[in-house]
Amino acid sequence: MTRVVVQAPMSGGPSTPALAAAVSNAGGLGFLAAGYRTAEQLASDLAETRRLTDQPFGVNVFAHRSAPVDVSAVAEAWGLDPKQARWTDDEYDDKLAVLEADPPAVVSFTFGLPHPLPHLTETWVTVTTVDEARRATGADALVVQGSEAGGHRGTWVDADEREDIGTLALLALVRAAVDVPLVAAGGIADGAGIASVLAAGASRAMLGSAFLLTDEAGTVPAYRSRLAEEGRTGLTRAFSGRLARGIENDWQRKHPGAPIAYPELHYVTSAMRAQARADGDAERFNLWAGQAHSLARTGPAGELVRLLLEEADEALELARRRLDR
Ligand SMILES: Cc1cc2nc3c(=O)[nH]c(=O)nc-3n(C[C@H](O)[C@H](O)[C@H](O)COP(=O)(O)O)c2cc1C
Repeated sequence: MTRVVVQAPMSGGPSTPALAAAVSNAGGLGFLAAGYRTAEQLASDLAETRRLTDQPFGVNVFAHRSAPVDVSAVAEAWGLDPKQARWTDDEYDDKLAVLEADPPAVVSFTFGLPHPLPHLTETWVTVTTVDEARRATGADALVVQGSEAGGHRGTWVDADEREDIGTLALLALVRAAVDVPLVAAGGIADGAGIASVLAAGASRAMLGSAFLLTDEAGTVPAYRSRLAEEGRTGLTRAFSGRLARGIENDWQRKHPGAPIAYPELHYVTSAMRAQARADGDAERFNLWAGQAHSLARTGPAGELVRLLLEEADEALELARRRLDR
């Protein structure tokens, strides 16, 4: 299975069975995002993806282990309903049971290393530091997520004390530390980006933001228009209580000191975000995006996969010629 172009799992709407299937049908590796879906919804997403493709695809599962936090004071200060706060493990066990019954080609985990690490199929684990990479024993591949990446940082423990390492630096450090296949993610927006991580030792490149504007992505219109513009991204906990990168908007700017409180704050802000999405108000819901989001292209996802492969080929050819000079 070469499938060098991997479509990143994107919870909260953008990832759809149609997107995963289109990418896999074009020779990439599509991913479903199980995050925030119920186990039942995951089962139906799996069935729908199987209906749309007979090619391999992956499913991503949250494996977070944060301790419960009381967010009543924050919720009240923000004018939101504190009663919505709750801690859940995102139906981890039920989702694994669904995947056991109908295993996809790859299952990837983010936000932590599950104990035990299930081996229903090929197992990938997201890492954001060399230390996490060293501790991810048993994984068949590591998703090396640089700090340019859109969406939540896949760190195993969310903490203020941390170093945000970019994709190329992290890839080089992880490659020197462990001997497993690496999937590079974060800030890769075109074929040249793919070529660069392959040259740096990755087996595959995972792109998230680059797929957000494709026809099959579930990205809502107000989010689509912001993605297409140049716009600064920043790391924030203001939507979910866990550090994530999104295009800066009013809510993000207004709450720079949001606490570490995932998933409680995710549930507290959930109704506000759903309303804002429905209203087309891009200032009050999360606009998760990587630092190169403005390079995202529209059109069918399958065409994008083919274009990215062509561009990567050209970029490597050009690099080769530069070296031969
Ligand atoms: C909207 C959005 C949702 C995301 N949701 C998930 C997720 O559910 N699980 C996960 O492992 N990563 C998630 N990510 C992170 C991606 O897997 C990947 O690391 C990131 O998109 C790569 O950076 P890029 O956006 O610059 O390509 C998400 C990213 C975005 C943009």
